[in-house]
Amino acid sequence: MKILSLFCSVIIVTVTLASFASAETYQHQVEVKDMTFAWKIEGDTLHGKMSAKTKGWVAVGFNPSSKMKDANFILGYVKNGKAKVVDHFGDRSVGHSEDTKKGGTEDVTLVSGSEEKKITTIEFTIPMNSGDKLDGVLSADGDTVLLLAYGPDRDSFKTRHKFRDTKTVNLSTGAVK
Ligand code: HEM
Repeated sequence: MKILSLFCSVIIVTVTLASFASAETYQHQVEVKDMTFAWKIEGDTLHGKMSAKTKGWVAVGFNPSSKMKDANFILGYVKNGKAKVVDHFGDRSVGHSEDTKKGGTEDVTLVSGSEEKKITTIEFTIPMNSGDKLDGVLSADGDTVLLLAYGPDRDSFKTRHKFRDTKTVNLSTGAVK
């Protein structure tokens, strides 16, 4: 009996440790209405996790020149259990297009995606400097303007936001202005 309970304890501890090991950890986070964006910088890579109360898209944009114009957008949704993430560019002050349709390159890597209890979560990585002029260069220090938004309950990147907000952060310290 003792051996059995020892065996069970070992299994429980192993499973718990394994689940901690596989979960990505983030250093910083901003929260707006029903949406969070968490991130960490590791070398030349930004690891991001965006989560919002929607069954449609969730997105983050970096450093617009005004409104949505010139921002580097990362959008994602989960359709039939399969996550999709895309790299867009703010080619208008109130719109965006695929980088690849504007002479740029696709520079986002999907890490994971889920849609549970009406919450969509997308984890991704992007280079701090992708070399694509449409992405701009992210700087760890100084101000980074974040655009945060999510869409209605539809798996389409063409729909406008249900909610949107902006925050100015320091990517390195996590300070929010
Ligand atoms: C087809 C998709 C989209 C359309 C048609 C659209 C349209 C618009 C329009 C008309 C405005 C100005 C009116 C308003 O403030 O609501 C706006 C502002 C804004 N949009 Fe979008 N949007 C789209 C996607 C996105 C995405 C993916 C983001 C990602 C974060 C975003 C973030 C924002 C933000 C933060 C503002 C406020 C900018 C400011 O006033 O400084 N939008 N959008």
